[in-house]
Amino acid sequence: MEEHRESRSSRNSLVFAVNGERFDVSSVDPSTTLLEFLRSHTRFKSVKLSCGEGGCGACLVLLSKYNPELDQVDDFTVSSCLTLLCSVNGCSITTTEGLGNSKAGFHPIHQRFAGFHASQCGFCTPGMCVSLFSALVNAEKRHRPQPPPGFSKLTVSEAEKAIAGNLCRCTGYRSIVDACKSFAADVDMEDLGFNAFWGKQDSKEVKISRLPLWKRNDQICTFPEFLKKENKSAAFLDLERCCWLSPVSIPELQSLLENADNNQYSVKLVVGNTGMGYYKEVEHFDKYIDIRHIPELSFIRRDQTGIEIGATVTISKAIEALKEQDEGDFHSEGVMVFKKIADHMEKIATGSIRNSASVGGNLVMAQRNNFPSDISTILLSVDAVITVMTGHKCEKLMLEEFLESSPLDAKSVLVSFKIPYWDPCRNITSETNSIMLFETYRAAPRPLGNALPHLNAAFLAEISPSEMGDGIKINSCQLAFGAYGTRHAIRARTVEDFLIGKVLNFSVLYEAIKLLEAFVVPEDGTSSPAFRSSLAVGFLFQFLGFLAEVETEISSAQVDGYSNTLLLKALKMKQNDDQFDQTKFPTLLSSAKQVLELSRKYYPVGEPIIKSGAALQASGEAVYVDDIPSPANCLYGAFVCSTKPLARIKGIEFKSKSATHGVSALISYKEIPEGGANVGSKTIFGAEPLFADELTRYAGQRVAFVVADTQKNADRAANLAVVDYDMENLEPPILSVEEAVERSSFFEVPPIFSPKQVGDILKGMDEADHKILSAEIKLGSQYYFYMETQTALAVPDEDNCMVVYSSIQCPEFAHATIARCLGIPEHNVRVITRRVGGGFGGKAIKAMPVATACALAAYKLCRPVRIYVNRKTDMIMAGGRHPMKITYSVGFKSNGKIMALQLNILIDAGLTNLPNRSAMRAPGEVQASFIAEAVIEHVASTLSMEVDSVRNINLHTYNSLNLFYEGCAVGGIELGQGLWTKAKQMAAFALSSILCGGTVDLLEKVRVVQTDTLSLIQGGFTAGSTTSESSCEAVRLCCNILVERLTPIRERLLEQMGSINWETLIQQGLEDLNVRISEVGAAAYMQAVNLSANTLFVPDLSSMLYLNYGAAVSEATMVLQVEVNLLTGETTILRSDIVYDCGQSLNPSVDLGQIEGAFVQGIGFFMFEEYPTNSDGLVVSEASGEPPLLLAVSVHCATRAAIREARQQLQSWNKSKGFDSTFNLEVPATMPIVKELCGLDYVEMYLQWRINGRK
Ligand SMILES: Cc1cc2nc3c(=O)[nH]c(=O)nc-3n(C[C@H](O)[C@H](O)[C@H](O)COP(=O)(O)OP(=O)(O)OC[C@H]3O[C@@H](n4cnc5c(N)ncnc54)[C@H](O)[C@@H]3O)c2cc1C
Ligand code: FES
Ligand code: FES
Repeated sequence: MEEHRESRSSRNSLVFAVNGERFDVSSVDPSTTLLEFLRSHTRFKSVKLSCGEGGCGACLVLLSKYNPELDQVDDFTVSSCLTLLCSVNGCSITTTEGLGNSKAGFHPIHQRFAGFHASQCGFCTPGMCVSLFSALVNAEKRHRPQPPPGFSKLTVSEAEKAIAGNLCRCTGYRSIVDACKSFAADVDMEDLGFNAFWGKQDSKEVKISRLPLWKRNDQICTFPEFLKKENKSAAFLDLERCCWLSPVSIPELQSLLENADNNQYSVKLVVGNTGMGYYKEVEHFDKYIDIRHIPELSFIRRDQTGIEIGATVTISKAIEALKEQDEGDFHSEGVMVFKKIADHMEKIATGSIRNSASVGGNLVMAQRNNFPSDISTILLSVDAVITVMTGHKCEKLMLEEFLESSPLDAKSVLVSFKIPYWDPCRNITSETNSIMLFETYRAAPRPLGNALPHLNAAFLAEISPSEMGDGIKINSCQLAFGAYGTRHAIRARTVEDFLIGKVLNFSVLYEAIKLLEAFVVPEDGTSSPAFRSSLAVGFLFQFLGFLAEVETEISSAQVDGYSNTLLLKALKMKQNDDQFDQTKFPTLLSSAKQVLELSRKYYPVGEPIIKSGAALQASGEAVYVDDIPSPANCLYGAFVCSTKPLARIKGIEFKSKSATHGVSALISYKEIPEGGANVGSKTIFGAEPLFADELTRYAGQRVAFVVADTQKNADRAANLAVVDYDMENLEPPILSVEEAVERSSFFEVPPIFSPKQVGDILKGMDEADHKILSAEIKLGSQYYFYMETQTALAVPDEDNCMVVYSSIQCPEFAHATIARCLGIPEHNVRVITRRVGGGFGGKAIKAMPVATACALAAYKLCRPVRIYVNRKTDMIMAGGRHPMKITYSVGFKSNGKIMALQLNILIDAGLTNLPNRSAMRAPGEVQASFIAEAVIEHVASTLSMEVDSVRNINLHTYNSLNLFYEGCAVGGIELGQGLWTKAKQMAAFALSSILCGGTVDLLEKVRVVQTDTLSLIQGGFTAGSTTSESSCEAVRLCCNILVERLTPIRERLLEQMGSINWETLIQQGLEDLNVRISEVGAAAYMQAVNLSANTLFVPDLSSMLYLNYGAAVSEATMVLQVEVNLLTGETTILRSDIVYDCGQSLNPSVDLGQIEGAFVQGIGFFMFEEYPTNSDGLVVSEASGEPPLLLAVSVHCATRAAIREARQQLQSWNKSKGFDSTFNLEVPATMPIVKELCGLDYVEMYLQWRINGRK
């Protein structure tokens, strides 16, 4: 082995650059990710941790690699949460801090993000900026015409896709896409939405001139010269000390593997390490072997027989290679196969994952872990050949054999795979006038971005006109299906055998489909099995259905004198068209327009000014709780949660000794100090325990808090903690609201929340012509999915005090809870919150126990303790939106007028043994709007009336609404909703009455600072969409006090000086104080001008009962002509119009962002976001403010209307079947649900109808 090593130059310390700074690391745990390093060992904290699984883009960095031979730099984004630090040896990393900052000047990307109002909570913004920067850098490398000044070579379509791998929970994306598109050379300025740069009336030229200038020639250098030089001397890393090995040849790899075998240590082969996104490393490996530098594993070779790709080639590079195939070398159909494989690969994960994920890693995961891989399915359909090396032996296998063999062991290496070149004349039957058809399919919850498929498929067929001239004959076909709940991708051989040699018509296709249904059967435990089988049918129909249609066309073609060959040519053209079919690569957004009415009456209140801190958020300078550097001696915590809904806790142990590595303490309710109490949160309904005591009351309840030296060790230990449960003699848990009713487990509802009856139900029912009695609807939960998970830092201070930094919507409540838990006076506690990376209600009550646990641990251990809850634990603990079961009875007239409505709503508010819930954005309102729509729909379908007619006849008037409306020092937290900005505007407005300099100037002088319970002891909750307005009123009142105090000084100064500015005025205020103290002593001090003011503004409770008018119209279709939709249940929103009246907006741009963001979050609730739990209620998934969220119900309504159309069509095909026009469309209306309502046997029914001559 030594001789192999000597043959190349390698380093024994890790060298790389971050934003141009050199880093040299000689000792590191090889499992350290780039993100961990950046966040804990550098000042570059813009790189955020959100999912930790490669799924959200918050942690993206630009990785640049230098190729000394070509003197070329490759720039691409990667997810730093999965990228191992050792693998960036010799690379340069650029984060958003590297682009610009508040001192040196913001980059135009930062400025445009701010100006297009594209940053709300800002937690996603650094990753977004990096994605856009990468797109710009790469666009500049393309051979394209020079763009106009100020623009880049980027196209609008590329700009939209630039952020396809980044999630944002706040904005609704439109504003972000506008910021990206503003750089594109082909952008239509009219298409760019509302922004702070220009007004509607400005000309195109003016608009362009107002955009922060992007100078292409001033590009940031992504690869520093010093690193180029160093790379020329030594490129490979051999960190024996940290167990990271980089072999550069197969013999070297073989000897490393042999050594491991002989010396009994464990090794892990790594390439991109993206597999960690799915399979978290629980075991510890002694050594990591980075196999990316072995030429035999990283080649791409083409010849006349096909293309062979080394296992370590990334998916992005494989796509490039497959697309590069030149038609000169191959028959066009063969090239088409390569291109379609590449097209499919582009739908895998996101660009940043594909940039580091290897094709070999994917195939190994498919083989070893039964991963629902796309690559294995598509390669299976084209007879790919695999080369595997075990020891010194290399073996070639068909992919099918490889997938079916026993899981690859740790010593076997996948070397390469080969896709044969498919020439219809050579490969299959040698029919001269045959053509090749190849298509791949994928049904996933989202067409682009991270979403594993419900099923994928790839079909290859060779067809020719039948000798009898009666249709198209299938000479051969290969049908591969995968990811549907099967151990690995499979070939549907029974169906293939049946089809081969047949002339395709509707009957043949029907039979093939029946065979397929029996073949594609998901394994037990797979979700929506019937839906998945129906997808397989749908895709086969999509592939072959048009050939069956051809049967009819052929007869008419022959009558018209056309030859079969001509017809085949036409087919071929159709196939080529499909390749460029836009529906396969939909753009993310089409266009949007915002029309607002602005008022300058209360200037600068009402101005659409840029959100305070937006550019800081974009440049990564904004400090969130987890960005605060750890104090010396800091420890880290992680929660151990119960997995049982109701059980006695006998004890907690760790799975192995190594699990306790770095652990300092395990804290449970027993560690609560004397005088303290086991409380984790307080609400108006009472307190909730911090930890389960002897009894755990729901799965997901906090049982203990592990404290360790690093967050990683704390998380690992918590993961490996084993709770010993005892369930003997315990009542069975209550796991549904129905059981809760049966067992009389009810919440005492405080009178203020008790529902009040309006009108006389019996009278209304009597007057009704029709009644629907006891109909039921269920609404599930929804996870908050704030991008920043729960986090806190507790620092012990002198004299038993505790300072806690918390990402919380209600610091005051955390303050009280912490004091009570620790048994110390409230004046010993101080809670500080500067900004929250998204809350949506989830950082109110649910953030308190997180802060309290840190405070408790810090108090016990006398050391700072912090936590950044990992996404999985966060999901388990969060609880989410309240699920509801609604039973309604409604009486109505024949014209649709509702006379009486009785609703029984069962809310799971915590008296079941399910995770307890808490308010989520628009709590209650969103469900109420859904219930109203569901009732209206039900009435309409019972009367066979248009839904809109029923809506119209039941619309409220102002007076009828009054029937339902009889009817805090305010402190607010910046959650991204623009509270600071509005407060600033109000301060400037209110202080401007002192007439001292301009208001614009004043705006710049106002700074809003963090919330601190030391200075703001009655902050209340930031929730309910009214906090900004109330905070502004408090600001106004305070400013009025200041104005009153300063006015006499101003007048005196004006008299003396003739004119006056703010600085002089304030200076004078201060000097008045100093002079008086020195001249006349303490008594005068009391009369001095007090330049700070506070006030307690308690909004009238009725302010929460605000009236908003909003309307949203959405158009959703499931069009038969767009087969995809009816065949898969995929719903596409074609257009949504929102009209929203938010009164006199304090800041229209901020409110617009809230409206769009809430609407999109509502779409998530109604259409996409499932909340999967196991039978114990444990979440099993891995991975203006509120009112506009309600409007998203329109998307659901439109979907219901489209489904109704589809059902009518089914009815027309099969009159005997009787499709009920009243159906219940669940929330969320996901693909499986929509598809089921459209008919899982839609294809079969259509075929039967055709077979029966369309009767
Ligand atoms: C967010 C996300 C979304 C994704 N979406 C999809 C999707 O939609 N469709 C899809 O098909 N895939 C998807 N993937 C999977 C992705 O394609 C794989 O994670 C990736 O290809 C693995 O490659 P890697 O180089 O990162 O492997 P690594 O993580 O480095 O390795 C994975 C495993 O394979 C082993 N290994 C790697 N190479 C070899 C080799 N040559 N010989 C032997 N063993 C080897 C490693 O030891 C490890 O056990 C997704 C992944 C992520 C993170
Ligand atoms: S992609 Fe890395 S944190 Fe989400
Ligand atoms: S601004 Fe995008 S997640 Fe908050």
